Amino acid sequence: MNMSKLTLPGLIDPHAHLRDPGQTYKEDFYTGTCAALAGGYTTLLDMPNNQTPITTLKRLNQKIKIAKQKIVCDVGFYFGSLGNNLNEFSKVQAKVLGLKLYLNETTGNFLIDKQELEKIFLSWRKKIILLHAEDNAVDHVIKLVKKLGNRVHFCHISTASDLKQIIKAKENNLPVSCGVTPHHLFLTENNVKKLGPFAKMKPPLRSKKDQEFLWKNLKYIDVVESDHAPHTIEEKGGDPTPFGVTGLETTLSLLLTAVSQKRLKIDDIVRLCCQRPKDIFGIKVDKQTYVEVNLNSKFLILNSKLLTKCGWSPFDGWMVRGRVERVFIRNRKVFENGKILVKRGFGKVL
Ligand code: NCD
Ligand code: ZN
Repeated sequence: MNMSKLTLPGLIDPHAHLRDPGQTYKEDFYTGTCAALAGGYTTLLDMPNNQTPITTLKRLNQKIKIAKQKIVCDVGFYFGSLGNNLNEFSKVQAKVLGLKLYLNETTGNFLIDKQELEKIFLSWRKKIILLHAEDNAVDHVIKLVKKLGNRVHFCHISTASDLKQIIKAKENNLPVSCGVTPHHLFLTENNVKKLGPFAKMKPPLRSKKDQEFLWKNLKYIDVVESDHAPHTIEEKGGDPTPFGVTGLETTLSLLLTAVSQKRLKIDDIVRLCCQRPKDIFGIKVDKQTYVEVNLNSKFLILNSKLLTKCGWSPFDGWMVRGRVERVFIRNRKVFENGKILVKRGFGKVL
């Protein structure tokens, strides 16, 4: 047996921004799902902060229709809310995997008033609520969970203090989960000087101390979520620079590199990128959907090799160890050695 070859279940990314429809010059359902396959992801969940936010059934249906024609891996969707579309909730519940709310400022005009939050929690009962919440907002949400019992997922936790609050909530058996991004695991504020706008995202890169806290407390973290948030190189060089970095194509190789450095186990990758996302977001997976990686294959991450339309990664120039060689979905080979082997529309909408 070749010990360098390993088969993993297809990875699930519960946090990607594919920009389609509305900003397909940055990414679209085809290029975004090609990037996903190249990174070993067979399912991804797409965020609702499109240029025209997905806050009505009509917009959701339009988005699903476009996706069906273009995707090469499986894609599920989230619904969005600013607190003024509660009457849409019952119409979309069955078509999405959760509701995404922003309590801190980020790309797009999506910020909701904390006063609105309780109304939203009362109207969205069945499925999970995902939150972009930092600092006080974490505490505020945990109090609401205690009061109302909604299941919540804290996206991209990046600081020791936020994770501490979540650990406490978990120890109190509250229905909370949380994710970290690859950029918060592998970059710190020290990288901002060199990377400039290519290291600007929300939440921002943190201190080495915060990063170490995340690594030390990995057992409390449920998922690694790429927060793949493409913007063009031109936009990134502009003023103001938009927040967000790409992640679909680099996350697994970075994690496998960490395995080779004994900072992580393969079992952790399976838990963080397959099992927990599957359980938390209620995704059915197929046994014949899997990824073949070569653990010994070393390569340079290079912007020029990426399939994401925006063509850059904050990890450009990094040497990593662990390459995605082949990807299978429902027993069909969909990716091999850098090439996409299926046509647009092969993927399924969850
Ligand atoms: C995201 C984007 O560009 O859509 N940006 C980011 O920095 N993470 C928005 C988000 O989800 O916060
Ligand atoms: Zn995001």
